[in-house]
Amino acid sequence: MSTVALKDVTKIWPDGTYAVDHLTLDVQDGEFMVLLGPSGCGKSTVLRMIAGLEDPTEGDILLNGDPVLDLAPRDRSIAMVFQDFALYPHMTVAENIGFPLKLTGVDPGPRQDRVGSVAGALGIGEVLGRKPAQLSGGQRQRVAMGRAIVRRPGIFLMDEPLSNLDSGLRAELRAEITGMTRELGVTTMYVTHDQAEALTMADRVAIMRRGVLQDVGTPTEVYRAPATLYVAAFLGSPRMNLLEASVYVHLDQYIALAFGEQALYLPWNDPRARAVARYHGERIVVGIRAEALVPVTPETPGHVLRGHIRYLEHHGHESLAYLDVGATAIVVDEMSAPAPATAAGGALRRLGGRLQRLTRPGPDEQPGTEARATRASILNDLGRHHRRPAELAVRLAPYPAVSPGHPLAVAVRMDAIHFFDETGDRIDVGRR
Ligand SMILES: Nc1ncnc2c1ncn2[C@@H]1O[C@H](COP(=O)(O)OP(=O)(O)O)[C@@H](O)[C@H]1O
Ligand SMILES: [Mg+2]
Repeated sequence: MSTVALKDVTKIWPDGTYAVDHLTLDVQDGEFMVLLGPSGCGKSTVLRMIAGLEDPTEGDILLNGDPVLDLAPRDRSIAMVFQDFALYPHMTVAENIGFPLKLTGVDPGPRQDRVGSVAGALGIGEVLGRKPAQLSGGQRQRVAMGRAIVRRPGIFLMDEPLSNLDSGLRAELRAEITGMTRELGVTTMYVTHDQAEALTMADRVAIMRRGVLQDVGTPTEVYRAPATLYVAAFLGSPRMNLLEASVYVHLDQYIALAFGEQALYLPWNDPRARAVARYHGERIVVGIRAEALVPVTPETPGHVLRGHIRYLEHHGHESLAYLDVGATAIVVDEMSAPAPATAAGGALRRLGGRLQRLTRPGPDEQPGTEARATRASILNDLGRHHRRPAELAVRLAPYPAVSPGHPLAVAVRMDAIHFFDETGDRIDVGRR
């Protein structure tokens, strides 16, 4: 049995940076947990604290139910693979993989057996006699994983192990890694900034932003019902369309969601209608993924948005049309850029800062700041920095018979749209 529990763990660097901010997370026995977030959000710091390479500033870490903060890294039964792993250049593949066993005094016979079976599982059984310089990048990465896994650790930590490889190899190794860890039943925490990697590999995904856990759930859960606007914007390709809407309630009939000149009507019997109705007269953010939009003929009645194609992207198996429907988009940034090192106050902090601030005050914030950030001001703030004309991503057939400037109407699957309030929290009936 191998479990990981992080209890309210915070890591503050000496310069005041909150790398990890009150993180609570449980990883179950045999689970493949992916920690996802943009560069700088604190993922590596989390792994390094679990491995014992860094100490938390506050909070507790339990492995198999026991507190481990007093244990040295080598006593934690953990193996870790980094992005920038180094193999011993003068040793063969077999010697590299077997090295941890040699260190712990395993005899050559059993050692060779273990190395052979690990190398077989990783598809490098044929190259055991080669030196690292005679291997491809993918083979070297497999050797690094073999060396980590050969001691049969209870817990396997992987920090962006695939990010230095080209994309074809990455896809291949994703399946191999999950296959191998499931076969061995080893509890795994896998760090990546790549949402596609997270969704394809994980049993559960934990999404972080600036050290703060935003959401955790199975890939289906976090994709279908993202807890925050940030998670909604982070997951999926093309990105979720996020439109600003004004809410007008027509009691017992419908709720009008007005996007500029156009509107969608949420029927009163929609299970989410009452929750959305609380925002009567206010603005919310409506999220519509491309798969909730179906091109229709212009006369089609019902839940339809109309606009003109601004530009087209051809992806081979499909095309994406970006449609100008006269709506305003909310842009969530910091999706890939490193976050500013410290949670420095006010003016330059973007949506993320605002969202986070409303959840909990930042480390260096004056008590009054939060009170001043009234609900109404949030979207105004967004407006100055983060609104722009919406370009609604719509999936079309490959090489469709339309071009930029063409009119296009799309039916909206109302049951598949998402609602977020101005603080970025999901508006929903009964959060999961
Ligand atoms: N040893 C360190 N000293 C000071 N700041 C650090 C140190 N390591 C990381 N940081 C900072 O902590 C934050 C989180 O870093 P990290 O955990 O490496 O993020 P990620 O792995 O998600 O890219 C970043 O702002 C980073 O600059
Ligand atoms: Mg990192």
